[in-house]
Amino acid sequence: MNTKDKLLINLKKSSGIWISGEALSKKLSVSRAAISKHIRALKEQGYDIESATKKGYLLKKISDRVLESEIVDGLETKVFGKKKIVYFQETDSTNTQAKILAEQGAPEGTVVIAEKQTKGRGRKGRSWLSPDGDGIYMSVILRPDIPPFEAPRITLLTAVALAEALISQVQLELRIKWPNDILIHGKKIAGILTEISSEMDVIDYIVVGLGLNVNTLPDKFTEDLKKQSTSVLIETGEPFSRVKLVQAFLHWFERYYDILTTRGFTSIIKRWRELADIIGKEIRVDGIGKTYTGKVLTVDDDGVLILKDKHGQTHRIISGDVTLT
Ligand code: BTN
Repeated sequence: MNTKDKLLINLKKSSGIWISGEALSKKLSVSRAAISKHIRALKEQGYDIESATKKGYLLKKISDRVLESEIVDGLETKVFGKKKIVYFQETDSTNTQAKILAEQGAPEGTVVIAEKQTKGRGRKGRSWLSPDGDGIYMSVILRPDIPPFEAPRITLLTAVALAEALISQVQLELRIKWPNDILIHGKKIAGILTEISSEMDVIDYIVVGLGLNVNTLPDKFTEDLKKQSTSVLIETGEPFSRVKLVQAFLHWFERYYDILTTRGFTSIIKRWRELADIIGKEIRVDGIGKTYTGKVLTVDDDGVLILKDKHGQTHRIISGDVTLT
């Protein structure tokens, strides 16, 4: 751990109490000048620290950014976020950056997170609105030992983990929309973009990217998005800690990932079906160049939606946009 992080831990430990520069320099075995340099850096990262000549330093408020130092503080995982967290004040797309890191050999569980994305990507070539400091824009590198054809399971698993994280933190009534959007009162609060690099029979890596609207105010959405998007702030009327949501997501994500690799997919898809509540519903699916209408028979273990149309014909649909009819 570097000196700045050690300093932060000491400031947090003495929360509400002044701590002198001399005490800090002794504790961390660095000069007073080094302490004041790191204090300046922490202030630049958004920590509110008061300094007074005779008293020393007082941490008044922690940073509300999604900094590594905040994410690791209280993170209850074994691997995810424990090896490497790459933080950007601004980047093009955390998925793009995670793919670069994965190509360079970054380990499983590496997290890439940004305050703002300038080229946030959604599914089907869409863009993902990523206003500064409002949402969670995060990607995780996985290297699962499963055959490539089972990779869609990872996306379904991610949707379940994200739903569990939201339920545990903000008790909102949500639904998973096939295949992997999270909706509240019919409006989208989160989306998942999974990208894979594999050979015929072996996965090199999977990058799971998630975008979650946390403290986004309605006027930040474009006119088009306003009708169909929401955020934690809009739903609850209160801003919420993005760090807490990141920690909760990593916790649930690792938990379900462990279940997948040790016990298989059965209990995960069962939970997905509960949270999606789509089986038996009459829907329309706008697929690529084709529209299907009918009743959902099931969503199978590979995430394929099985639909029965009014002529009794069964369709296996791999991707598309679902509307309840
Ligand atoms: C969708 O619903 O279309 C998926 C949206 C995924 C957005 C996230 S934000 C973090 C990560 N980086 C990206 O460029 N996209 C994903």
